[in-house]
Amino acid sequence: MKEVKRVAVIPGDGTGPEVIGEGLKVIRAVSGSLGCDIEFKHFDFGGERYMRTGETLPEGAIDELRTFDAIYLGAIGHPDIKPGILEKGILLKLRFELDQYINLRPVRLFPGVETPLKGKGPDDIDYTVVRENSGDVYTGMGGAMMVGTPDEVATQVMAYSRKQVDRCLRYAFEYARKYGKAARGKAEVSKLALVGKSNVLTYVFDMWNRAFAEIGSEYPDIKREYYHVDATTLYQVATPEMFDVVVTTNLFGDIITDLAAITQGGLGVAAGGNLNPEGVSMFEPIGGTAPMWTGQNKINPLAAIWSGAMLLQSLGEEKAGDAIVEAIGDTTPKMKSMAAGQMGFSTTEVGDMVAEAALKRLN
Ligand code: IPM
Ligand code: MN
Repeated sequence: MKEVKRVAVIPGDGTGPEVIGEGLKVIRAVSGSLGCDIEFKHFDFGGERYMRTGETLPEGAIDELRTFDAIYLGAIGHPDIKPGILEKGILLKLRFELDQYINLRPVRLFPGVETPLKGKGPDDIDYTVVRENSGDVYTGMGGAMMVGTPDEVATQVMAYSRKQVDRCLRYAFEYARKYGKAARGKAEVSKLALVGKSNVLTYVFDMWNRAFAEIGSEYPDIKREYYHVDATTLYQVATPEMFDVVVTTNLFGDIITDLAAITQGGLGVAAGGNLNPEGVSMFEPIGGTAPMWTGQNKINPLAAIWSGAMLLQSLGEEKAGDAIVEAIGDTTPKMKSMAAGQMGFSTTEVGDMVAEAALKRLN
């Protein structure tokens, strides 16, 4: 009998349930070639539940989620709920409580996908952002005083501990060694670029840079580079082929991965994983709830399917996960566009095509 792995599924709001449905379809399609059996348990956390109960995450939810092997999340958000409540109460809370200290965001232009970058193709747009996911301005350190008066002061602090920096960098170096361009036969050496702002945020990036050099000395096979974040956005547009693995702080990572997403065809194709390599990881498309497309079977499910593939990889099912990623690349050339409503296929048809292509690749 195969080992049973348990996956918590949080479809969430808006188009979340539709795209997660397709991700689950593809995972189920390849289940015959998995080394484990997967048991799914659904949770209804999200904006709808909050509207009904006033609760973001119910008592005990985090502890229950801790017992799973992975979490598969659709999207959380609701047009009638004030910004910040669901983000802080559900998404960020899960990331923080489960100490998912890495946000892994692969950037890859699949064949046939249109990019706004003139003259660039799949060989040029092929890098990974390792976004630190536990520190920075996301910790909530700071405060406000004399709110509403002309003397009002507000602060929100960029905070990092050396421990947070070290574990993130170590993950990034290991990732570069295992999956960098040299490991994939696409370059002579793999590179890890630290993205920061050492000319202004001198304390924080002095620490990051020292740690980068110290830990990097244990990885002589990985070429180290450093770029300021402002310059990075320029390079992402002008010369994305220069990047291999990029490691950066939480807020900079948030920003540069949205820019990266549009270069690979938009949020419909942007996947991510919130990883705790020693605990429970959570996989989610970056896209959000897309309320105007809800329930129409028109949203692009590829980001969610790709996140599902990353989930399988994290469970040790690399072969099936890789097959799904390649199956996405078999499907994109048939699609008219990556944009919702313009794919030339419905959401469920795209899921069917990827499932079929993944099976073909595995047989
Ligand atoms: C993301 C999102 C979140 C973030 C928001 C919704 C809190 O933008 O996952 O990139 O800032 O991390
Ligand atoms: Mn973001």
